[in-house]
Amino acid sequence: MARVHNFSAGPAALPTSVLAEIADEMMDYRGCGMSVLEMSHRSNMYQQIIDDAEATLRRLLSIPDNYRVLFLQGGATLQFAGIPMNLMRRGRAGYVVTGNFANKAHQEAAKYGEAVLLASSEGTNFDRIPNMADINARIAAEAAGKGLDYVYICQNNTIFGTMFHELPDCGDVPLVADVSSCFLSQPLDVERYGLIYAGAQKNAGAAGVTVIIVRDDLIAEGPAFAQTPQYMDLKTQAAKGSMLNTPNTFGIYVCGKVFRWVEQTGGLAAMAERNWAKANLLYDLLENSVLFHGTTQADSRSIANVTFRTGDAELDAAFVAGAAEHQIQNVKGHRLVGGMRASVYNAVTMEDMQALASYMKDFEAQHSLSPRSN
Ligand SMILES: Cc1ncc(COP(=O)(O)O)c(C=O)c1O
Repeated sequence: MARVHNFSAGPAALPTSVLAEIADEMMDYRGCGMSVLEMSHRSNMYQQIIDDAEATLRRLLSIPDNYRVLFLQGGATLQFAGIPMNLMRRGRAGYVVTGNFANKAHQEAAKYGEAVLLASSEGTNFDRIPNMADINARIAAEAAGKGLDYVYICQNNTIFGTMFHELPDCGDVPLVADVSSCFLSQPLDVERYGLIYAGAQKNAGAAGVTVIIVRDDLIAEGPAFAQTPQYMDLKTQAAKGSMLNTPNTFGIYVCGKVFRWVEQTGGLAAMAERNWAKANLLYDLLENSVLFHGTTQADSRSIANVTFRTGDAELDAAFVAGAAEHQIQNVKGHRLVGGMRASVYNAVTMEDMQALASYMKDFEAQHSLSPRSN
């Protein structure tokens, strides 16, 4: 069996032990004579699967009892609208724009009310998280002025390779975070947030599941807009245990397996230590390289998505093309930014990192006479 070194930004590498377990259970899930793919979501057997997934996630993140856990569909993108629909009661929320996905969320929210731009790093091509003291001062001023229903951040910016290393101080205003690409990469203090959500296809499982963790009181009154589709009404979804309609049964089953794998391999603190060791292998290499350079400010570096380039688009393309010969896949940067990106999510191993680092060093040695254009 030949497996490649997969640095995909998502859907992304899954732990091989999880894949093997899924293969084992494919024809006959634990003696019930059918696959999870064929199982009614109303069966006791399936209820155990979803309950177990939630319970494991609650243990991993120490989720307090006053937070609900949902497994919905529609990707993170549907929640760009779902969040204002549910939470924009006064019609005014603050957005920190740190990349493409935060920008999309900001634009979507503006359809439902006033989406106040609190800060943006667009001016420096999203190479950093804006100054936190400035963000905090702006939040305090807005909260004391016209008020904010919530403050929104995209905690890890998958395309640009940046991450919040500290959270904004929102006072009493609930913090809402898209944690899609840093979910389960590191410990997370759920109580700092009003709502957290993540597409599962990076660190938490298969595409097609969005995990939402939301504080009870924020959804107790139902959505902010009466015309909110039933599916997107978080109060109803919570009351129905994510089963208002047929959920992504198989996707949730895969999430449950990944949650267990994270727990069995030491939990989130151990995961963070391994992830920083992997990412720092590349960041150190980039700092010492004469050919490659990182594209983000050091204090804003992502734990999960390492972005870099040579400064020469043709050399970047040659690097990406040559990678395949070393069984290295998915290192091309996002089409919006070009260059290269290695996503080093939980299931990417140190061996994968060493293969990439060794290819980078060889490529650099071969092209060491090429000038760097910036
Ligand atoms: C941080 C972040 N938010 C949102 C999205 C959009 O997710 P989806 O494709 O699940 O809608 C992505 C996708 O890569 C992402 O990385």
